[in-house]
Amino acid sequence: MGEVADGLKDIVASESSISRIELEGEEAVLEYRGYNIHDLAKHSNYEEVAYLLLYGELPTKTELELFSEELKERRELPPQVVGLLTHLSPFSHPMVALRTAVSYLGTMDRNISYTSHEISIEKAKNLIAKFPTIVAYFHRIRMGEKLVHPDDSLNHSANFLYMLHGEEPTETMVKAMDLDFILHADHEFNASTFAARVAASTLADMYACVVAATGTLIGPLHGGAAQRVMEMLREVALPWRADQYVREKIERGERIMGFGHRVYRSVMDPRTVELKRLAEKLSKEKESKWFEISVAIEESVRKYKNLLPNVDFYSASVYANLGIPDDLFVNIFAIGRIAGWTAHIIEQYETNTLIRPRARYVGATGRKYIPIDER
Ligand code: SDX
Repeated sequence: MGEVADGLKDIVASESSISRIELEGEEAVLEYRGYNIHDLAKHSNYEEVAYLLLYGELPTKTELELFSEELKERRELPPQVVGLLTHLSPFSHPMVALRTAVSYLGTMDRNISYTSHEISIEKAKNLIAKFPTIVAYFHRIRMGEKLVHPDDSLNHSANFLYMLHGEEPTETMVKAMDLDFILHADHEFNASTFAARVAASTLADMYACVVAATGTLIGPLHGGAAQRVMEMLREVALPWRADQYVREKIERGERIMGFGHRVYRSVMDPRTVELKRLAEKLSKEKESKWFEISVAIEESVRKYKNLLPNVDFYSASVYANLGIPDDLFVNIFAIGRIAGWTAHIIEQYETNTLIRPRARYVGATGRKYIPIDER
């Protein structure tokens, strides 16, 4: 048996052709299907990136138009799912609502247990299309607001903001949301994706795999971090208060949410570079203080702990400036990541070996059974 690798640190679990993360000296490189994240951030859009992750190639103009139409056709929720969302406690975390709705969608799919490529792609399109609707509908239901149904004249990102806020978003907001979805679309074997692959390795249905991923993402050490970053920004409230806040938090041995990464330990996450630029742009346009506070916190964390911001750190001020409630931040992450999750589930189905590591046993052994009356 091999050495124990806590948290599977630096363990290469299997091969994948979806995302590549390379730490090349001072730079980190992230590619989706071989395309650099900075090129995709500059030139692409979320529908095109979702297509790339699922099919492995950039679409032609016709292929993209068809794919976008297929997503539009699948945006609306069955009335039974809307009914489910109205019966959930309005105090449920929106990620609990999301995973519950995914589970319910599975009960309505007569092909639920089929894992062929064509049927899996169909399930993937259905989930990619419906994630924004589930999140927007649950939010409006819990706020006691009327549902805003999908508008097929709007692209994926614009339609989400429209369903969430009930008004057409500005072009800047759409571009910001779309860029955020691109940057969150995939990231190799992160915890939630790996959870999905473990489930897929048993040939569990796609809904079960996505519920596993959604349940994993909510954790504050993973996708749940951005909500806590926002809570921190609100607590700090003014840039000049950041240094003392960070110093005292570190002195108390507490984690600073939005910092550190299992892979990007000493080089900046390339997604953070894009998100920081976006956060600055949005904060300027909205004349909001969140970016300035974020920069002050980043400087202090680097000073006291030599840690770099991760993808969740600047996402917080981007979402706040897009008018997204704090507890929906991790749902935004999921709306982007569902494309990566489904691509990895399909890849696992098609190159499968059951994922079943070993444990180094450290408990008591050889104990003699004692009847209960003698204990
Ligand atoms: C995401 O994997 C992915 O790809 C994830 C993700 C994706 O796209 O899917 O990138 C998205 O989940 C980003 C991470 C969001 N989580 C957070 O921001 C939570 C705060 N971060 C940490 O908890 C931590 O940095 C992790 C969980 C992200 C990584 O933890 P590791 O690799 O297990 O490192 P570690 O916990 O062993 O820490 C190493 C050292 C420790 O110091 P010592 O105890 O050895 O002295 O660094 C310290 C830690 O205390 N440390 C921190 C810290 N992160 C690490 N100290 C204070 N604040 C932090 N945030």
